Amino acid sequence: MLRDILYNLHEETTLSKLIQAVRGMNDILPIQTPLWQHIETTVHEVLTSYGYQEIRMPLLEKTELFSRSIGEVTDIVEKEMYTFTDRNGENLSLRPEGTASCVRAGIEHGLFYNQIQRLWYQGAMFRHERPQKGRYRQFHQIGAEVYGLAGPDIDAEMILLTARLWQKLGLTDLELQVNSLGSAEARQVYREQLVTYFSQQQSQLDEDSQRRLQTNPLRILDSKNPAMQELIEKAPNLLESLDNESQTHFDQLLALLKQAGIAYRVNPRLVRGLDYYNRTVFEWVTQSLGAQGAVCAGGRYDRLVEQMGGRSTPAVGFALGMERLVALFEQTTGLLDHSPEVYLIIAENAVSQGLCLAEMLHTALPKLRLMSHCGGGSLKTQFKKADKSGAKLALILGEDEIATHQVTLKHLRQDLPQQKIAQTELADYLRSLS
Ligand code: HAM
Repeated sequence: MLRDILYNLHEETTLSKLIQAVRGMNDILPIQTPLWQHIETTVHEVLTSYGYQEIRMPLLEKTELFSRSIGEVTDIVEKEMYTFTDRNGENLSLRPEGTASCVRAGIEHGLFYNQIQRLWYQGAMFRHERPQKGRYRQFHQIGAEVYGLAGPDIDAEMILLTARLWQKLGLTDLELQVNSLGSAEARQVYREQLVTYFSQQQSQLDEDSQRRLQTNPLRILDSKNPAMQELIEKAPNLLESLDNESQTHFDQLLALLKQAGIAYRVNPRLVRGLDYYNRTVFEWVTQSLGAQGAVCAGGRYDRLVEQMGGRSTPAVGFALGMERLVALFEQTTGLLDHSPEVYLIIAENAVSQGLCLAEMLHTALPKLRLMSHCGGGSLKTQFKKADKSGAKLALILGEDEIATHQVTLKHLRQDLPQQKIAQTELADYLRSLS
């Protein structure tokens, strides 16, 4: 009894000293990583098959890069960036997204000069948001960006590429929402209409929208507050103030999507939270994940390269949120099993022969998930470990087997008789099982 109390006390004091992960920043544990790897590999394969090349950018950039591209009065720049001054007095930020860095890298390395670029990147992004299901402070994106193409064909191709991804991943509960933000000039006119409309209804605006009315009125349309929905419903429609060229661009995009058999919903309230967009914007949204339903989002940003000091270069891109995609995939398909297929049990005096046998199998069957027992112990303990490992088959290498150049096979999940097999035939036998 006293021992239990002392033990619990010890546990509590140890726990209180434990350093835990930063709120909103997750460990991705081994049970989850097979899902991540599967999705990442599928996305890489699809992007490569459409001619995209990988680019890797730093996690840290000058803060100014983000404030100038994403926009001074966006939520991300105003209140969500992890910003600090480094030892040289430079103002730096952890990247909250990848597009700004991609543009910076492209300009810096002359990638946009008379060239079309199809690029992709992946990695951690950081936003100091209020953590909840599907929304984290460190999260992961795979992004794709195309530079040098202005027409709606590339917008359509990008959307088709993402649709192919969902199909490959077996995801069905995803709705494509599209909108056009028009040209910067047309949006300015619309912005004024919105300010006039919402100013007349100022008493009905919630606190957030009051603030946005001064800073970024388009974002009021994005409000999720149910009390605001009726007001938003009646607000002037952005699509009605599109400039002619943007209207044609949008009509052509919709026609291409229709011809390709891609279902979509035009959502005139889709305005996106970053300032750099013009014309096409789109999001793939699911109802299966609760409030954080946007799994993939992007659009056109034809002005950004020039605005950041490069030559005028049309651009379009998207990023998908890995955490949300993994959650959706897990809901649809379940976890993926990467436990060993085969567990090699090695008698204590046969360690070197055991390791050599395992090496021979790893060479012959590079994809086989074979775990060799290490750490000694009786055959009984090793069997328990084999069972716990999830393996379907145990190979036993004991003294008898060494003497006869054989191994014993035991099926761990099926009621089949144990059998002996020559070591020289083992690789072929295992190959025949897969
Ligand atoms: P975004 O809409 O801010 O766009 O993010 C893209 C996706 O990243 C979202 O749809 C969501 O799946 C995921 N995401 C964003 N924030 C979080 C979070 N806090 N926790 C978990 N997942 C999150 C961009 O970042 C643009 N750079 C996309 C783009 C590329 N536009 C043109 N090119």
